[in-house]
Amino acid sequence: MANDVAAIKTALFERFGEDIAVDPSWPGLDALARITGHRSHRRFADRPLEPGLLRLLCACALSAPSKSDLQQCDIIHVADASIRKAIVATIPDMPWIEDAPAFLVFAGNGGRLPRLSHLRGKPFPNDHLDQFFNAAVDAAIVMATFMQAAAAVGLGFCPISAIRDHPQTVSDALGLPDRVFPVAGLCIGWPAQSGEITPRLSLSTTVVENSYRERDLAAEIDAYDRRRAQLRPYRRQRNVEQWGEAKFYGWSEDKARQYAVLTRDDFGRFVRKKGFCLD
Ligand SMILES: Cc1cc2nc3c(=O)[nH]c(=O)nc-3n(C[C@H](O)[C@H](O)[C@H](O)COP(=O)(O)O)c2cc1C
Repeated sequence: MANDVAAIKTALFERFGEDIAVDPSWPGLDALARITGHRSHRRFADRPLEPGLLRLLCACALSAPSKSDLQQCDIIHVADASIRKAIVATIPDMPWIEDAPAFLVFAGNGGRLPRLSHLRGKPFPNDHLDQFFNAAVDAAIVMATFMQAAAAVGLGFCPISAIRDHPQTVSDALGLPDRVFPVAGLCIGWPAQSGEITPRLSLSTTVVENSYRERDLAAEIDAYDRRRAQLRPYRRQRNVEQWGEAKFYGWSEDKARQYAVLTRDDFGRFVRKKGFCLD
């Protein structure tokens, strides 16, 4: 218990740069210690993941709440090496996808609902953006629940949104039917390293009390850049050929450089082609 309190406080100080009160009498502190200690893992031990454990974790994940009980998330276990290879080929700069003992894809499935309407002889007038959004949110919640379950048994994982860099290729490899789309992949395995906590924006930036107020966002981001650079400085700068070597290279510079390059501009087209109406 005292260990949990110390672990939570240490992790949160590193994460948010803030001393957050933890009452030792509060229940569930062991679970909170695990949650606050989160870090993504990209290196895995040479130890297989038992198929039964993977199935149990899928069942835990799909026990998550679901919008209107519509159950619009599917989990695809990419067990076939040739299918995984086809996906990996679209993301050559992330070797951890190939190395991970297991690779899953969390997909939004907006195809079952109109099928139900058809089977029950009912109209389906709700064919608009909310349908796509609901399926995407369900998939994200299922993936988050999977990660909580995986962390509880000591597994490491890293989500992979890069599977949306070439969505049609991934869709073809996985044989995704109409109205089924990839939300993110997930590399899973027993971690080879303990990993590191990544600092986040301060809670005063991201937790809003009642309503947004005037704030000096530039100053808040600058403070975060500097706090983060002290703990986890970037090892290399992005697109130096274009933007030069920055004297101080913080999170905001990295994200601005990342998003100065156009990516995934075909995703809307892909989703529409899959049969969704995004209006
Ligand atoms: C939806 C989502 C997609 C992500 N996609 C990728 C990815 O394609 N490749 C990757 O290496 N990490 C990916 N990540 C991991 C993030 O880079 C990571 O969560 C972030 O850097 C913070 O680090 P932490 O998870 O260790 O706190 C993704 C995370 C999320 C939640």
